[in-house]
Amino acid sequence: MGKWLIIFLVYILSHFPTPLLAGGEVSGGSLSTESRWIVDELGRRVKLRCVNWPSHLEVAVAEGLSKRPAEEISGEIRDLGFNCVRLTWPLFLFTNDTFASLTVRQSFKNLGLSESIAGVVQNNPSIIDLSLLDAYKEVVGSIGRQKLMVILDNHISKPGWCCSNFDGNGFFGDQYFNPELWLKGLTRVATIFKSYNNVVAMSLRNELRGPKQNTNDWYRYMQKGAEAVHAANPAVLVILSGLSYDRDLSFLAKKPVSLTFSKKLVFELHWYGFSDGQAWANGNPNQVCGKVTSDTTRQAGFLLDRDYPLFVSEFGVDMRGINVNDNRYLNCFMGWAAENDVEWALWALTGSYYFREGIIGHDEAYGVYDWNWCGVKNQSILDKISALQYPFRGPGYEEARPHKVLFHPATGLCVTRVSLLEPLVLGPCSEAEAWSYGNHKTLTIQETYFCLQASGLGKPAKLGLTCRDASSKWEAISDSKMHLSSNLKDGTDVCLEADAGNKIVTSKCKCLDNRERTCDPGRQWFKVIDSTRHRSRSNSLTQVVSVVKLLTKSAMGWI
Ligand SMILES: *[C@@H]1O[C@H](CO)[C@@H](O)[C@H](O)[C@H]1NC(C)=O
Ligand SMILES: *[C@@H]1O[C@H](CO)[C@@H](O)[C@H](O)[C@H]1NC(C)=O
Repeated sequence: MGKWLIIFLVYILSHFPTPLLAGGEVSGGSLSTESRWIVDELGRRVKLRCVNWPSHLEVAVAEGLSKRPAEEISGEIRDLGFNCVRLTWPLFLFTNDTFASLTVRQSFKNLGLSESIAGVVQNNPSIIDLSLLDAYKEVVGSIGRQKLMVILDNHISKPGWCCSNFDGNGFFGDQYFNPELWLKGLTRVATIFKSYNNVVAMSLRNELRGPKQNTNDWYRYMQKGAEAVHAANPAVLVILSGLSYDRDLSFLAKKPVSLTFSKKLVFELHWYGFSDGQAWANGNPNQVCGKVTSDTTRQAGFLLDRDYPLFVSEFGVDMRGINVNDNRYLNCFMGWAAENDVEWALWALTGSYYFREGIIGHDEAYGVYDWNWCGVKNQSILDKISALQYPFRGPGYEEARPHKVLFHPATGLCVTRVSLLEPLVLGPCSEAEAWSYGNHKTLTIQETYFCLQASGLGKPAKLGLTCRDASSKWEAISDSKMHLSSNLKDGTDVCLEADAGNKIVTSKCKCLDNRERTCDPGRQWFKVIDSTRHRSRSNSLTQVVSVVKLLTKSAMGWI
């Protein structure tokens, strides 16, 4: 093959918008922030999609090591599409040398957990006689060998289950929460893990809470903590949590934190169904979703507009799928999290705990793993949540002109189209149709004249070319603003819905009356989301590009 042909091919390739690879963006280098995004050393966005791996309970050993080898667990975490682990630690592991130097075997033995000892001997023999501190380092290392990032989270002081208002671990000055000792511990952890380049962030303290909590001490100590970590290891991101169990960062609206360094600060938020008691189960889902999301925006979401990344470091649901409160919350949460394209960590990896709240082998209903840490508890819920792994925008993902995608939280899928002639269906968001949503409330396929139209109750929504009438106008209605409503030719109100076969149809709008509390509008909830991603359908163009690439590669090999 001649030189000129190669030059020609390289020219062609450099002028084709080739879809960037999503996913494998664990750079190994340090992360920093760029406005509200977290970016790698090349300035490309790294979306944190993590799972919480508890290691802060009485035993102070990462859970599950009596069931499976640490590295095998880490490999499965990666295979599930997570790119990082939020690994918790109790302060005393790094401030009490007597405790830290207990061996793993002794720590289990002290709690009478002989079965766990046998399990660790079988599955992780190399750590059983290591000190608790060395075992913790070993786990961080094995997570890194599987190319996962680690966020070290100081979860509590005194090892044990977290949290309550009166457990002595809630706020600076509580029985087990001496600020000076905490600062020493942070420095120690930052120093020890400086040489682990997969440790990309430290979150300074989990769920501040209790009767002593106040904003003065929050600024005083959190700023000191942030400076201590940064001084010991300037490469890591510093993650600050708010008050009231990490639900409240509203005070930052009036007074930002003041630090000597920049581009390393991230805030974290926790958001569960039970954060609002039983509101979801007892109320109208539209009304509750509207209220709770606007509360969340006021308490934490506003930070995105102030150019800080926001890390939802705990969310999750009862994986048995039987908790109505959790199920309703999840659909609303998914809409919010996808729309805001936030960083997140699912609670939790745990199938069962060695010992929790006095119970040996305590099950984790919110766990990814089943009790035995062998299979997952609920694949369908995990599939749905995995939709949030996809970054819709941010530095390095500006592949296409800004457009909208229609996200369907109940399935984690997006509205997509096979051809102009076939009905719209739900599909992976990487293949989402690109829409523009204009002043006239029409939803038009970008760069075409085709607009979305309602054509009848229970009938597929179609694509048409006469886009002026009422059946082509789509209004986001209800308190949740997640119903897309239009009018039929005869004036009937209809809402967009994904039917049981995931076809996009229009039906009678559900749950609009706030007195209705038993209805579930999930199939009718859509979020109109900003995206700059390319549609990764393997269409003829991408096929041509890959053939040309292949030819170039082999041609290069000949020179
Ligand atoms: C340090 O750890 C040891 C061993 O667990 C414990 O007996 C002791 O009370 C701890 N000291 C403090 C100050 O917490
Ligand atoms: C998984 O969750 C769904 C609800 O989303 C539920 O219907 C199903 O029974 C659950 N499966 C298992 C195995 O628990």
